[in-house]
Amino acid sequence: MSSAARDISRSTGSPLQPCLGVKVAAGWLAGLIARRRRFGYPPAMASPAQFWSQFAARYDGHVLSRDAVVLSPRIANATGPVERVLDAGCGTGQVIVELARIAKRVDAADFVDEMLTIARRKAQTLGLTNVSFEKMGVDALAFPDGSFDAVVLSNVLHLVDDPGKALREARRVLKPGGKLVAPSYCHAEGLGALLLSHVSALLFRLPVRQRFSVNELLRLVESSGFSIEGREVLRFKMPLVFVEARAA
Ligand SMILES: C[S@@+](CC[C@H](N)C(=O)[O-])C[C@H]1O[C@@H](n2cnc3c(N)ncnc32)[C@H](O)[C@@H]1O
Repeated sequence: MSSAARDISRSTGSPLQPCLGVKVAAGWLAGLIARRRRFGYPPAMASPAQFWSQFAARYDGHVLSRDAVVLSPRIANATGPVERVLDAGCGTGQVIVELARIAKRVDAADFVDEMLTIARRKAQTLGLTNVSFEKMGVDALAFPDGSFDAVVLSNVLHLVDDPGKALREARRVLKPGGKLVAPSYCHAEGLGALLLSHVSALLFRLPVRQRFSVNELLRLVESSGFSIEGREVLRFKMPLVFVEARAA
């Protein structure tokens, strides 16, 4: 090693450190690629609806759904024991299982048949008789104004083309003063989140439509006719803000 190189390595720490960093990053990337192969993700050109329909059978137990399992009781706790609640973008029904225990009536909606089939089967297996399922987009809810005491949008807002429209629809179908519970991933909350978001979109072809920061999302919720009641940021692999708001 030349004396100049020795000086640089002395001033920057061990010359092994960058090497280790590269190895860790390479290991992480190799892990992601291996996982991608194992799960056989839908083809690159799939639309969001096609993606979710092809992914439905693998959703439960997959890393993408793990946080929802942890969050479900908290979501039900946030809606409270209401008369009627809507779970918009219900997926395989992980959240409705908890909602059905606490609300008199649960309406569950998703735009993918395969998700609804799994959710319906789950409700039947568990003997949940107070849940009904309907196929619809979160941005075009087929319910009259003021139908619900609470609306849940769990892990959905970053996946839709127009989250403002979805929020305004939630606002419309809520009774005045009704509760919105919207735990949402914030893909632009810091550089790490942004990097993870782009890498996973590339490798797993996740149909991420929105990359917002916590503050950007909160502003959108407020400008869609809600007043924010709670906003805890949970540090999952991807930061998630647990938004609780009231229809203003
Ligand atoms: C990541 S999963 C979340 C499922 C569930 N809310 C949970 O927390 O486990 C996203 C779900 O939203 C649905 N979805 C995405 N965009 C939608 C839209 N525009 N209208 C209705 N459902 C949509 C997908 O089909 C999928 O079931």
